[in-house]
Amino acid sequence: MGTFAVTGSASGMGAASAGLLRNAGHTVIGVDLHGADVVADLGTDEGRRTAVQEILAAAGGVLDGVAAIAGVGPNMRDAAAVMSINYFGPVALLEGLRPALVRSGAGRAVVIGSNSATTVPLIDEDLAEFALAGDEEAARERARAVQSAMPPEVIEMAPSVGAYATSKFALARWVRRTAVQADWARRGVLLNAIAPGAVLTPLMLGSTGTAAETDPDEFPTPMPLGVFGHPEDIAFWVHQFLKPEARFTTGAVLFVDGGTDAAMRPDAQPTAMTL
Ligand code: NAI
Repeated sequence: MGTFAVTGSASGMGAASAGLLRNAGHTVIGVDLHGADVVADLGTDEGRRTAVQEILAAAGGVLDGVAAIAGVGPNMRDAAAVMSINYFGPVALLEGLRPALVRSGAGRAVVIGSNSATTVPLIDEDLAEFALAGDEEAARERARAVQSAMPPEVIEMAPSVGAYATSKFALARWVRRTAVQADWARRGVLLNAIAPGAVLTPLMLGSTGTAAETDPDEFPTPMPLGVFGHPEDIAFWVHQFLKPEARFTTGAVLFVDGGTDAAMRPDAQPTAMTL
């Protein structure tokens, strides 16, 4: 049986993933702002350092997998905090825990992005580049500038939607760029992302004003399967990516969104290579 760290373990997809792993007999080190084995704020440097140290201590320095699930939604008032929590949190945590994943011999990492990265037309490329360059201060400043340039009706509905979509866009890019680096790929550490669509969790219900009994066909984005996701639908794929048998996939971004991305951008994949 393995030892896994799961962030966001107190609620939603994180709680479902931690539960699934525990039920399968694994040891889970849950990380969250409250109600977790490791209590830490992944939106701050200090919280990320504490989280890495306490996870390593609890795991004895060897981890079989990390599921970086903690995050916030587009309803956060402060767009800078969205970047810190959704992008810099998982990146710092995974970089800090990579040596422990290497030690297991078959380390697995999975992060939760979002289909907002590809279905919300508010990606700010400069913001994504600051994030990918690791410049948190510049990213926070840019996120606030982007936010203040949004029309009032957008701010009213989803105050940090641009930063939210861009944080998940940059995170997916970071996964693809990082997973193939020798430090990861040649050390047996596989790194993938899941891009969920509308999943019934406190975050989704709170940030979209959707009620659990809302008809999925009334949702603002198309829902081809006619159902919302449940946290367990994401936990299933988290579990698959964390298995040692999942040994030939890295750098993938898997849409688990009821078909929303395919409905909105059917021809976006595959993209033909050009010379
Ligand atoms: P949730 O709100 O049920 O769970 C998120 C957990 O993350 C909470 O327990 C919260 O305390 C924790 N968290 C938030 N900020 C934190 C911080 N600074 N430090 C440590 N922990 C923190 O939300 P849900 O829906 O389960 O979200 C999980 C992930 O899925 C998030 O990254 C979210 O952005 C993403 N997502 C959610 C979608 C949805 O429809 N629910 C759609 C696409 C992506």
